Amino acid sequence: MTMKHLILAPLRGFTDVVFRSAFKRHFEGVDEAVAPFVTSIKGRSIKPSHLRDLAPADNRVLPVVPQILSNNPDEFICLANALFDLGYREINWNLGCPFPMVAKKMRGSGLLPHPDVIDRMLDKTLRGFSGNLSIKTRLGRFSGDEMDHLIPVFNRYPLSRVIVHPRTGVQMYAGKVDLKAFDVCLTRISHPVVYNGDINDLDMFHVLESRFPSSSGWMLGRGLIANPFLPEMIQSGTRLIGHGNARFAKFHDDLVVGYCRRFSGPGHVLDRMKGFWRYFAADFPDGRRIVKRIRKADSLDRYRQAVTAVFNGKDRWG
Ligand SMILES: Cc1cc2nc3c(=O)[nH]c(=O)nc-3n(C[C@H](O)[C@H](O)[C@H](O)COP(=O)(O)O)c2cc1C
Repeated sequence: MTMKHLILAPLRGFTDVVFRSAFKRHFEGVDEAVAPFVTSIKGRSIKPSHLRDLAPADNRVLPVVPQILSNNPDEFICLANALFDLGYREINWNLGCPFPMVAKKMRGSGLLPHPDVIDRMLDKTLRGFSGNLSIKTRLGRFSGDEMDHLIPVFNRYPLSRVIVHPRTGVQMYAGKVDLKAFDVCLTRISHPVVYNGDINDLDMFHVLESRFPSSSGWMLGRGLIANPFLPEMIQSGTRLIGHGNARFAKFHDDLVVGYCRRFSGPGHVLDRMKGFWRYFAADFPDGRRIVKRIRKADSLDRYRQAVTAVFNGKDRWG
């Protein structure tokens, strides 16, 4: 069996160090993670609290690539070098964030209609940062045609890899991934290319793998959160049989413990865990009712009762 190179996607508010560590303690199959973005900041001094999620001591279990959201080369270099000093050898540049608040300020996917700005940014950044630089991008902000002008820019610089989520920024997270456009990226980008988007089950993975055998890796986000067994299923090529709830419950309880340590006050823990159930509940028999019940929980005790009922119910992964 050949191992597939699987990467945990960055999802801000979800795949932080608590999630990454708990996931790695309970599940196999993922090789590395790209961390949710940190924004570059003016001035030279970077407070440790800004990089709290990336504290090396907490990030030893799963190799992590930090990600930066920035349109300013000096700020980028400063932050990238601070991360390099912490021991991180690859930094990922976020060219995909679709949120209008971000994109309108010409950050994330907001930069994609401006290949000239990206060109200048790469030129200056790579003079001041000696680590490896990779990019995570969408096809464009408004249209996939933007990629025609981006590829020659990407190809001019020694990027370590380009992760492509084949949607446009304005699509946000809905609508179909454009596999034809990904094919063009895979053929024309001269760096290793990683596929990302909608790998939600084994069938989708097999479709992608047979269509894009030269993809250098596969990045999984929402599909992995909804079904953390998915990487093991992909690596083994088989579906999980039975006892999923019990294993999932242990992982879940570890998350709660981690967030209780991390956040001050049960309200924040509850909010975070309720956020996860948006993904966890997918495909659970009766998922909607579960989410409703869990959302109503107004204390950690009530929350625990609600999730215990779910875990004692029908096996979601049986
Ligand atoms: C809530 C949320 C937060 C996200 N945060 C980030 C982020 O910080 N950096 C990034 O590059 N992508 C971010 N993404 C995009 C994901 O990394 C990924 O590209 C996208 O969800 C498609 O992959 P998937 O279908 O496997 O989830 C985020 C997506 C969601 C839904």
